[in-house]
Amino acid sequence: MSKRVRKAIFPVGGLGTRFLPATKSMPKEMLPVVDKPLIQYAVEEARAAGIEEFIFVTGRGKSAIEDHFDFSYELDRVLSERGRVKDVQQIKALLPQPGDIAYVRQQEPLGLGHAVWCARNLVDNEPFAVLLADDLVLASKPCLSQLTAAYTGGNLVAAMEVPPDQVSRYGVLDVAGNEGNLIKVKGIVEKPAPKDAPSNLCVIGRYVLDPSVFDHLARLQRGAGGEIQLTDALAAMVGQVPFHGYRFEGTRFDCGDKVGFFEANVAFALERPDLGESVRSVIQRYAKKK
Ligand code: UTP
Repeated sequence: MSKRVRKAIFPVGGLGTRFLPATKSMPKEMLPVVDKPLIQYAVEEARAAGIEEFIFVTGRGKSAIEDHFDFSYELDRVLSERGRVKDVQQIKALLPQPGDIAYVRQQEPLGLGHAVWCARNLVDNEPFAVLLADDLVLASKPCLSQLTAAYTGGNLVAAMEVPPDQVSRYGVLDVAGNEGNLIKVKGIVEKPAPKDAPSNLCVIGRYVLDPSVFDHLARLQRGAGGEIQLTDALAAMVGQVPFHGYRFEGTRFDCGDKVGFFEANVAFALERPDLGESVRSVIQRYAKKK
């Protein structure tokens, strides 16, 4: 039987250096894909999966994220006066219930593991989800819903195959066996050189985790790139709690990377009934030029 997951952590404390200068004063997670910020896609995905409490791990310069999920009195008034009822409703639908959203500050961006650890006091002793907004998944059933439906306890991570020469960008799974979409995991390594990678099955930014991960993160050990890695804590838990990967259905876009972000914009625009046709003709026009 699947186990209920009520809380989600959104680590948004990273510097987003691959997107400079755009991210100098604007959070990477506020970059829009078509017309919606990345972080809103992640929050909507969490909501669709039944998440009730939303915990953001923020950092300096990230206040635009808090404003985005806050009531905007001026905007509400101006749109209402202009009779733009649909826009008013759309903006209001964004807002979580008061008290369902919490922010905790990661004072220094010491790594994803450190960001997750910063939320420990708000999670308590229950399984929780982690969503990285810069991983965007286009799927008929949202990626986190696929995970929560399959979750029976321990650690469960979304996984996908990548070309072997790209494994060094990811956490890579050491596979013990497969059962449908579920992968039994016997190990995990962060950013291995291709020759040392145990497979080409890599973890993307959707996790459902056992709360005992906080005990491992509390050691604050530095790993790959000098950062406190979530992967290292997960590796230390192998054999202590069940650990599975889940081969999710859908297309994942790495929106922390410029080309991945551009591709996500194309893919999501083409899916939109109001934009798809015009975007397709623009792309065809440019494709003919080259
Ligand atoms: P990235 O590895 O993409 O790092 O983080 P980054 O700093 O955001 O971006 P680059 O590499 O400098 O361009 C993956 C996710 O983990 C969060 C980021 O906000 C992003 O959602 N993160 C990373 C933190 O919250 N804190 C950290 O210390 C590091």
